[in-house]
Amino acid sequence: MNDVVCLRNVTKSFHQRLVVDDVSFSLKAGEVVAILGPNGAGKTTTISMILGLIKPTDGAVLLFNRQPHEKQVRERIGTMLQEVSVIPGLKVREILELIRSYYAQPLSTDELINLTGLTDQDLITRAEKLSGGQKRRLSFALALAGNPELIIFDEPTVGMDISSRNRFWETVRMLAAQGKSIIFSTHYLQEADDAAGRILLFNEGKIVADGTPEEIKARISKQTVSFIIDPDVSLEKLYLHDEIKDIYRKNNRVYVQSDHTDRILEFIFQEKIGARDILVERGKLDDAFQQLTSSNKEAI
Ligand SMILES: Nc1ncnc2c1ncn2[C@@H]1O[C@H](COP(=O)(O)OP(=O)(O)OP(=O)(O)O)[C@@H](O)[C@H]1O
Ligand SMILES: [Mg+2]
Repeated sequence: MNDVVCLRNVTKSFHQRLVVDDVSFSLKAGEVVAILGPNGAGKTTTISMILGLIKPTDGAVLLFNRQPHEKQVRERIGTMLQEVSVIPGLKVREILELIRSYYAQPLSTDELINLTGLTDQDLITRAEKLSGGQKRRLSFALALAGNPELIIFDEPTVGMDISSRNRFWETVRMLAAQGKSIIFSTHYLQEADDAAGRILLFNEGKIVADGTPEEIKARISKQTVSFIIDPDVSLEKLYLHDEIKDIYRKNNRVYVQSDHTDRILEFIFQEKIGARDILVERGKLDDAFQQLTSSNKEAI
């Protein structure tokens, strides 16, 4: 029972409407987990229950085998929420000092600046005057102030420009390498694919997939064979094969979707259509996301 986070049969209803439906999962120390899912899937509600900000209607949430709101737990976690709010009237440096003073062993202000990319100008600016992206940087610094073991981010990179985003993920990778446990939600599938060792895919309040990005991609049976042919070559002969689910042309390439790419390669050679530069691609995370969260799901 060394789980950093453990949810057991957690349910949340708002006004009799079930928004988190019997969710169970646990997280070991050092795991980096992405929570994905469409708008309204229950990601923020689940994160809020992990943080002890709202109570489950049913089920149990434990962090380090304790209740989320206990002081011993709060000292070990850092968080950046979807709605960033800042303390108005204080300058960024003053806020950093204030929040650091709450912790027994905070990171130094210099470390926080290095990790998050806060600038000298940010430090002397009053929090309410910061831009959206600058507020996120401050909020990131506050999340790390107490040198937390578990870090939870709800859509952390919304509103960040490309270089802030790259810097953010660089820091996250460094924190992960130090053995921190990290949970983040995102709508950017590439971020989940790049940064997380595990993805929890939510849909309509339930976990519909839980695995490494590779495992989730592998659940997509549909694969694609693509190739280049002369534009005047007809694809009619290929349409006759049942194994082919879909054929389309995009920029000079022909894409053929099928569950059995080996057979497709055979047809392509049999029919002598002059295909060249042939590529076989597995399902992408976007496809898995679409397939697992669409309302009329294909059985996979
Ligand atoms: N305090 C609340 N009172 C009533 N309904 C709520 C409350 N908070 C969330 N909900 C509802 O619960 C559902 C799940 O919301 P949640 O914020 O968890 O979704 P999400 O997955 O984080 O979505 P997004 O990607 O848009 O951030 C939504 O339908 C939302 O309207
Ligand atoms: Mg949300």
